[in-house]
Amino acid sequence: MTSLATIYRPYFPVGAAVEPETLTTQGSLLVSQVNSVVAENAMKWECIHPSSGSGPAAYDFRRADTIVEFASRHGWSVRGHNLVWHQQCPSWVFQEGAGSASRERVLGRMREHIAALLVHFRGSVYCWDVVNEALSERAGSWRVDSPWFRAAGAEVDGTGVPEYVLRAFQYARAADPSVQLFYNDYRIESGDKLRGALELVRALRSKGLIDGVGIQGHWTIFEPDPEDVRHAIVSFASLGVKVQITELDLSVFRSGDSASLPALPSELERRQAKQYGALFKVFREEAQAGRLSGVTFWGIADDHTWLDDYPVKGRKDWPLLFDTAQRPKSAYGTVTQW
Ligand code: G3I
Repeated sequence: MTSLATIYRPYFPVGAAVEPETLTTQGSLLVSQVNSVVAENAMKWECIHPSSGSGPAAYDFRRADTIVEFASRHGWSVRGHNLVWHQQCPSWVFQEGAGSASRERVLGRMREHIAALLVHFRGSVYCWDVVNEALSERAGSWRVDSPWFRAAGAEVDGTGVPEYVLRAFQYARAADPSVQLFYNDYRIESGDKLRGALELVRALRSKGLIDGVGIQGHWTIFEPDPEDVRHAIVSFASLGVKVQITELDLSVFRSGDSASLPALPSELERRQAKQYGALFKVFREEAQAGRLSGVTFWGIADDHTWLDDYPVKGRKDWPLLFDTAQRPKSAYGTVTQW
């Protein structure tokens, strides 16, 4: 079997999201196929900094270090995911005694957390998703139900950007000026959310605080139109930032469909192959034009995918290029032969 990483070497690194466990259960497939990796959960706040406090005892780097060491042994690059997100962040971050912590206290904790991670992973993680999913799906406005927004959501400096977003990028830049700083979000390839993301990137860029944008790529085999994805890549790149596809998987279910299937029907596998093929054609062309610099799958094979529990808990989905037995699917063919 040919290697995705080798075939795509002239274009961009090919990555996958992993857990320490999947380095074992999917290890040989990963080693043969990718040259970049991201932690699916191990670098998120609740995993790496579960207890309150700022000393070494408050952090647990073991799961993340397992991934970084494996990556280093195989010469892979490592994306950092993520520093500030409204999910998987412990409630202590926003509390003080029985009440809510002050804005200053929450921002102070954020600063310490960011500094601790950037120092620990200096030289081994080349970029960070500094802020993840700060935009709501509604009219490209801010996600106001985020505890971060509640604590420090007012805009500062006339930028139109919530304080917590701006500070996260400032703290990250100060902690390690050499690491690349990304904003990462989903459904930012079109519509109001694209417009909102472009405004955010423009504002951060004008302050020299951002290096790249991650378009997540949690899509389906029916949408989006690959030309919309191209338009988004071109639009972000025109602001002078790097663009990566960071969390690619194509569900075989339409958005909002809660039906189940006993197995992947061949007609849907064909459709998936066609859509993956069309997307990778755009990715190659945009890479050649200097506008796309990375593609990371959210997993590697259908035996481990978050979509088995979302949006319907326990419903099997088949969103990746390799099947549950880690054999190449039709989509592997359209992505590797053109
Ligand atoms: O760690 C606990 C474990 O202690 C417990 O026993 C177990 C029981 O369910 O749950 C474990 O936590 C799970 C965690 O993954 C780690 O495995 C959570 O239930 C589960 O909800 C969580 O899901 C992750 C999800 O983010 C959280 O929103 C997925 O694995 C992960 O793939 C997903 O990744 C996100 C990206 O970070 C951001 N973009 C969207 C993407 C998909 O939601």
